[in-house]
Amino acid sequence: MSAVDELQSIERTALDELGGADSSERVQELQITYLGRKGPLARVGKSLGGLPVEERKLVGQTANRVRGLIEAAIAEKLAELDKLERAGRLEAERLDITLPGRMPPTGRLHPLTEVLEEIVDIFVGLGFSVAEGPLVETDYYSFQALNIPQDHAARSMQDTFYVDTGAPQPYVLRPHTSPMQVRLMESAPPPHYVVVPGVVARRDEIDANHLAQFMQIEGLAVDENISFADLKGVLEVFARQMFGSNLTVRMHPSYFPFTEPSAEVYVSCFACDGSGCATCRGEGWIEIMGAGMVHPNVFRSVGYPASTTGFAFGMGVERIAKLKYSVNDLRTFYENDLRFLGSR
Ligand code: DAH
Repeated sequence: MSAVDELQSIERTALDELGGADSSERVQELQITYLGRKGPLARVGKSLGGLPVEERKLVGQTANRVRGLIEAAIAEKLAELDKLERAGRLEAERLDITLPGRMPPTGRLHPLTEVLEEIVDIFVGLGFSVAEGPLVETDYYSFQALNIPQDHAARSMQDTFYVDTGAPQPYVLRPHTSPMQVRLMESAPPPHYVVVPGVVARRDEIDANHLAQFMQIEGLAVDENISFADLKGVLEVFARQMFGSNLTVRMHPSYFPFTEPSAEVYVSCFACDGSGCATCRGEGWIEIMGAGMVHPNVFRSVGYPASTTGFAFGMGVERIAKLKYSVNDLRTFYENDLRFLGSR
């Protein structure tokens, strides 16, 4: 085979093998094989000296051309492989930024806490301050000072758990937050504008509408010339902020030993606007709390003149939350089922 033929065959196999190379390592191997000091082109170059002048020129030119072609093919192949590798890397490292993120579970306030704070905030906005009192309370503050004598039948309205400490006067789990009316008035002269949130207990059979332990918010306003109209105005502002600005407040005569007159407070149903629906059980009205003008006997028991004027009210937090969140069973607030709590 002539040297030129040999060079052409080198060219073909080199280009062929380069065409099939699938990694830059392989291309580098081929580069050494064909263009290296021990490669076929080097060998041809070394043999040039022994050739006749005419042939030497032709073989030399052919060798240079083949070297150039192989170098160009190597450069092209390396660029191609680099591009592919880069694309492969990008593909492997691809991030799908259209996927919705995974929310880490975060805590939040219990719906009852939220409702309690919402109620308190409304009254704070009206100028009321906030006080808290003991859950374990004396019989005196829970009943007697609130115009409910010992052994009086009116006690059954707020029957509770008696704690026998052996002390001369019985302790109870307070059945309402009303004892704080007395404690507050004993602690300072009027005026008083206070709300009292807190836990209370009742000797009640637990069902969808009753719990043996729940929360109330008491309100007390004692000042000069406080009238029933003030009571109604305050409760109307509260009810509209809590449930909706269009509703009407209705007060319905009732009985509580510590108020006179006493009332049950209703709002026109915020779910149906008063026409009657499941939320208001077809009534158009929903009871939200008890209220009234502080009874003169309560003022007497704290040493205020019986002519003092003031109003009081008390509402159940769970009941308000139940209305607000359309819950039909109070117990669900205390079962710690995150499916329920997270959806409120
Ligand atoms: N303490 C009452 C209860 O638990 C609620 C209540 C009614 C509180 C009328 C008041 C009031 O201050 O004026 O049933």
